[in-house]
Amino acid sequence: MKIILENICKTFGSVKAVSNLNLEIDDGELISILGPSGCGKSTTLSLIAGLLKPDNGEIYFGDKKVTNIEPEYRGIGMVFQNYALYPHMSVLKNIMFPLKMKKIHKKEANKMAIQMAELTKIEDLLHRKPSELSGGQQQRVAIARALVKKPEILLLDEPLSNLDARLRIEMREEIRRIQQEINITTIFVTHDQEEAMSISDKILLMKDGLYQQYTTPREMYSNPSNKFVARFLGNPPINFIETEIMYNGEVVKLHNSRIILNLSRHLKGKGIKENQVTLGIRPEDFIITNKDEALFSVEVIGIQIMGKEIYIIANIDEGIKVTLVASWDFNIDVGDRLYLDAKNIHIFHRGDVC
Ligand SMILES: Nc1ncnc2c1ncn2[C@@H]1O[C@H](COP(=O)(O)OP(=O)(O)OP(=O)(O)O)[C@@H](O)[C@H]1O
Ligand SMILES: [Mg+2]
Repeated sequence: MKIILENICKTFGSVKAVSNLNLEIDDGELISILGPSGCGKSTTLSLIAGLLKPDNGEIYFGDKKVTNIEPEYRGIGMVFQNYALYPHMSVLKNIMFPLKMKKIHKKEANKMAIQMAELTKIEDLLHRKPSELSGGQQQRVAIARALVKKPEILLLDEPLSNLDARLRIEMREEIRRIQQEINITTIFVTHDQEEAMSISDKILLMKDGLYQQYTTPREMYSNPSNKFVARFLGNPPINFIETEIMYNGEVVKLHNSRIILNLSRHLKGKGIKENQVTLGIRPEDFIITNKDEALFSVEVIGIQIMGKEIYIIANIDEGIKVTLVASWDFNIDVGDRLYLDAKNIHIFHRGDVC
């Protein structure tokens, strides 16, 4: 089922939880809504579910306008952060519950519930109570229950946040598998950029109720539309270097410094049009090179060993620091000088808020 949001607004008192949101989700896609706490992710999901009504704008499922249709008639399945399983019912009864509400015959309901239990791989747990299950198993029950009515849309609000790191990775892969097996249009809310990048066809990134960018994970990472997007994706985060343009848009002076960089090789004749810009360089895009080929030199002031790689914190000049990533076996000490070039330099407005 295709989903279209047209100019959606939702305000709570003076808080603009969602402002003028336009969004198109194709049939069978899994998209993530990503952003910091309070940016409007859950509000957007509740609007799509029909639990909230927009102040303005329209919502379509396929060709049908659903803006004023009650949640139970929208054909959606929903899973929340806390699973909300019924503690006194067995796994089987939990999964069958939505069918009981729909007054589906018990024998048929039983068959449908078992099918969903097989899809979510909990068919051996059907007679246990939720309290006798692990967090990951409870999450599978919640997904089975959301899917049992054969909805055309699945909405997931931070479904993995109660699980430990390892189980989160396992369950996000499971969600992707289940979603692809039944080819259901899915919206997955998370504030974890790695989670969003790893399972989504597209990501919607929001900040303070406002749309920032909506595209594939790869495109958002390699072509962020502003500083906020650039900094939200990637760990360690992208480095920002404030600069002033010297002349012809290819030579810049670092802000509060005498250091001058010639970017002509990096900009390939596309000079910068503004007077002040921020350069963005991802830690993994630095190239450690020799003096003649370097864009600038740095002094190493800190080293963090992360396992397969090390993070090197280095000063370009007093108060201008960058972080770069090197392989774990790179031999380096605090106080060493490194010559750096960059594979890729992003250019942002200096005034962007991030
Ligand atoms: N029922 C409500 N009444 C008043 N304000 C609300 C209500 N629901 C949400 N808000 C406000 O709207 C904004 C967006 O909230 P929302 O729950 O959508 O954020 P979120 O992105 O899901 O955050 P989190 O990651 O913390 O779950 C917040 O400022 C929140 O305080
Ligand atoms: Mg939320």
